[in-house]
Amino acid sequence: MKHLLSLKDLTRNEIIEILDTSSELKEDRKKGELRHHLRDKTLLLLFEKKSTRTRISFEVAMSEIGGNSIYLNPADTQLGRGETITDTSKVISRYVHAIAARVNDHQTLNSLAENSTIPVINALSDLEHPCQLLADLMTIREHKGDLKGLTLAWIGDGNNVCNSTILACSLTGIKTRIATPRGYEPNQQIVADGRMLGGDIKLTHNPTEAVKDADILYTDVWISMGDEKERDQRLKDFAPYQVNRELLEGASNDAIVLHCLPAHRGEEITDEIVDGPNSRVLDQAENRLHTEKALLLKLLK
Ligand code: CP
Ligand code: NVA
Repeated sequence: MKHLLSLKDLTRNEIIEILDTSSELKEDRKKGELRHHLRDKTLLLLFEKKSTRTRISFEVAMSEIGGNSIYLNPADTQLGRGETITDTSKVISRYVHAIAARVNDHQTLNSLAENSTIPVINALSDLEHPCQLLADLMTIREHKGDLKGLTLAWIGDGNNVCNSTILACSLTGIKTRIATPRGYEPNQQIVADGRMLGGDIKLTHNPTEAVKDADILYTDVWISMGDEKERDQRLKDFAPYQVNRELLEGASNDAIVLHCLPAHRGEEITDEIVDGPNSRVLDQAENRLHTEKALLLKLLK
């Protein structure tokens, strides 16, 4: 693996290796044992969209493994004045050792990767959010043990996080039941790719059917960054897809609830569920740090 633009860039074994390293790094950190595995390595964070978790977890990850990071809003760089991604990528490659980019259009990541001599990491695009799913797989493994054979129900928008969920589950043997309103289904190519990878993927428009016997319920915002203009229509279309007590009661008794955060409480998920005993959302957020460390070590060491 040179870049992580999509979860398809990883094999099943590479994912398991990253999860194993992440768990070791988590234990080390708990014991206060931080080892500087890297020296004189710099990660550039190039973010076109806002972020709390991704930015902080990457910056802390680099610092705790002994490297440095630089955060840039592209609008404040010459990109904002029309310098091309191609030139920018070639120049960046002469200074830093990896780029984590959060972009409006996935194509920007492809251009960065095609023109760079250093690894490019997708820190969220309109198509995928692979780093989130590494943390989510770690969280599922911590609470459920073996991944293979579990069932995950996705409720809501067939968005970037949903697309990465389909690939992550297909690669690790988790069955997916995807419930979206009509017109908001996940990317068709990703569903086809997931099936090619052996994924057991069922698409439905019925949330109750999707959660039946599910071990994991996963939801995300109804209005992702970039979708704000469709707000009123989306609120109407997604209203029957809220993760609430009634929906959770249809899942397995010990089902866990995931949300990549930020949550829009009272829209896609109720306070009672996001703060309740089945919720694992804070573990997911924490695990971003451990999985990103493991990923950076794999790409940079
Ligand atoms: N889950 C996630 O990527 O959060 P941020 O947008 O805060 O980075
Ligand atoms: N689907 C959301 C995820 C945020 C982490 C978005 O793209 O805004």
